Amino acid sequence: MTGIPAVSRRAVLGGAGAGLAVGAVGGAWGGRASARETRPSPGSARVAFHGPRQGGIVEPAQARVEWAAFDLLPGTGRDRAAGLLRDWSAAAARMAAGEPGGDGGGGIALDAGPNSLTVTFGFGAGLFDKLGLADRRPPALAALPAFPGDALDPARSDGDLWVQIGADDALVAVHALRVLRRLAAGTAAPRWQMAGFSRTPGATARPMTGRNLMGQVDGTNNPRPQDPDFAAKVFATGPDWMAGGSYAVLRRIRMLLDDWESLPTDRQERLVGRRKSDGAPLSGGPDAGERTPVDLAATAPDGTLAIAPDAHVRVAAPASNGGAAMLRRGFSFHDGLLADGAPDAGLLFAAFQADPAHGFVPVQQRLARGDGLSRFLRHEAGALFAVPPGAPEGGYVGQPLLEG
Ligand code: HEM
Repeated sequence: MTGIPAVSRRAVLGGAGAGLAVGAVGGAWGGRASARETRPSPGSARVAFHGPRQGGIVEPAQARVEWAAFDLLPGTGRDRAAGLLRDWSAAAARMAAGEPGGDGGGGIALDAGPNSLTVTFGFGAGLFDKLGLADRRPPALAALPAFPGDALDPARSDGDLWVQIGADDALVAVHALRVLRRLAAGTAAPRWQMAGFSRTPGATARPMTGRNLMGQVDGTNNPRPQDPDFAAKVFATGPDWMAGGSYAVLRRIRMLLDDWESLPTDRQERLVGRRKSDGAPLSGGPDAGERTPVDLAATAPDGTLAIAPDAHVRVAAPASNGGAAMLRRGFSFHDGLLADGAPDAGLLFAAFQADPAHGFVPVQQRLARGDGLSRFLRHEAGALFAVPPGAPEGGYVGQPLLEG
């Protein structure tokens, strides 16, 4: 151990949205602090790996994310899969504590702190068949329906195992991915990989909800850990091995940014239902702020609805979808150019929920048909994973399933 206090999961939960606490300065990676370098480094912030819930769900999105899916190699049995999850969990716990992860990282994070590293593991439907566990596959992991407009690339979708690595430093995130990939050799083969980013801590003088690549303040009306029904919306209560876990729906959503940016701001705002400058709802008048509640019934002086019938926040709202809710925790991507010169950029959308049938599915069904924003979006890849609860010290993620 480095002697640096971990940010307890409880502390993070209580302070979600306010940013992560920062540990003491120094430690194995820091070397000797010079007289000029006495302020705590943001890189020293850490999130404990072990605990009742996996990290990377309720914590504020880090500056960088790496998503990777793996397929179990033919002939891999339950023992080998369990060994991989044991090795992955141990390496993730070490790296989250700021210690070397093991072989395969190439030394690229040697002098960096943990940078709030979280590693989240998920199980795809295929894992249950391959390991002879089909009878233990939870109903909530049933294949999602096809949605209008979907053009999902199978090579970049699904997978038996999912790893989400978040960190406030790109080298730390890539290092963790390299370590986990090395550990998977001989047991699981990489299937697809995606990298994303969100706002860097300290980038704004005024801490606020981050923006996506359409320039919108994105994440305002997410369920919040302090809401009384937060856990019921986000965390599963069963089956036994999934109690306290969650279901992650992933989508790579490309944005038609050149078309979007050619729209005047007021048109962009009508398509979302919120002001671009500060995220305030269009139902709130000029004095509204980001946190002013959305009023879907409010009318403009001309008698029309202040939030348009096809505005994204109206179509996506729980009130329009029988109460369906999810915790969105997406990241932007910007991966170069397409053949036609357009940016290959958009949102790595992630939604965590207790059951996709009462979260993502009804909302996306409605969005795909009636959301004004969706004319500027292309859903290109997707996946659904069961994200088991966290592992206690000495245990590993998925142990009750794989050894049960
Ligand atoms: C690139 C695609 C998307 C963009 C740019 C986007 C953008 C936004 C923005 C700017 C907001 C308003 C601020 C907020 O409350 O967070 C919002 C709200 C929301 N979005 Fe999206 N979104 C996208 C895709 C999706 C998808 C695929 C879903 C779910 C299927 C979804 C569900 C929601 C929900 C539930 C809300 C909150 C509505 C409310 O209760 O006020 N969004 N989104």
